[in-house]
Amino acid sequence: MRTELVVALDFSERSEAEQLMEKLEGLPVIYKVGLELFLATGASWVQTLCSLGHRVFLDLKFHDIPNTVAQAVVQGAKTGAEFITVHLSGGRRMLDEIDLKLAEALTAGQIAGRPKILGVSVLTSFHEEEWIANVSHMAKISGVRPISDSVQHFASLAHDHPAIQGMVCSPKEISLVRTKHSHLFLMVPGIRPEGAPAHDQSRVMTPREAREAGASAVVVGRPITRAEDPRAATLSILGELE
Ligand code: C5P
Repeated sequence: MRTELVVALDFSERSEAEQLMEKLEGLPVIYKVGLELFLATGASWVQTLCSLGHRVFLDLKFHDIPNTVAQAVVQGAKTGAEFITVHLSGGRRMLDEIDLKLAEALTAGQIAGRPKILGVSVLTSFHEEEWIANVSHMAKISGVRPISDSVQHFASLAHDHPAIQGMVCSPKEISLVRTKHSHLFLMVPGIRPEGAPAHDQSRVMTPREAREAGASAVVVGRPITRAEDPRAATLSILGELE
């Protein structure tokens, strides 16, 4: 299967996003809209992108009570976004509710299709010590778990649940998840072409390495958005993913 390229539209202004998209016109990429841009543009802009034929990954990482997240996912699906993220730590009941509400919305004709729901396990910004400190209140009951244990736990939850089609995972976690869960769609940020600066990403892989490790899609932001020639940078990454 082909590894897709997701371009992270990490901008605070709609005009900046549209300028970049114009430069990448016609290239086979998916656009990631995160919280910053979404708050600047709103759902109607995302809907317009989708109606123009763009593929959109709505990365809003929902985390709330089951009913609230499920209703938000349905609203996200109404834009036509192809991918939507939720935190897997929201638990099984939250996932059940997403499944139910999407099915109801589909039957009622409120959405044209089901988006792929991707689960976020442990945010890749966590370092091991910080993660352990963060969950230490649970340690008294269950013992401190390293990040890899938590990722495997969430991967099993994602694998077994019909509401979830994939996960966001760091380059380091691809093989851990891929070996056990071959059908999950793995969306992988932390990607840097050979020789590009890592910025604040602590564990990076090249696009080719991520493809070989089993990534379904790679997410690339600054190496494209800050490139002198974003189109050339995108074409070069697409070349590595073939
Ligand atoms: O500029 P850069 O390529 O580092 O951007 C990566 C994108 O992927 C950003 O939008 C960032 O928020 C997102 N992301 C990430 N790590 C995660 C989840 C999302 O870097 N675990």
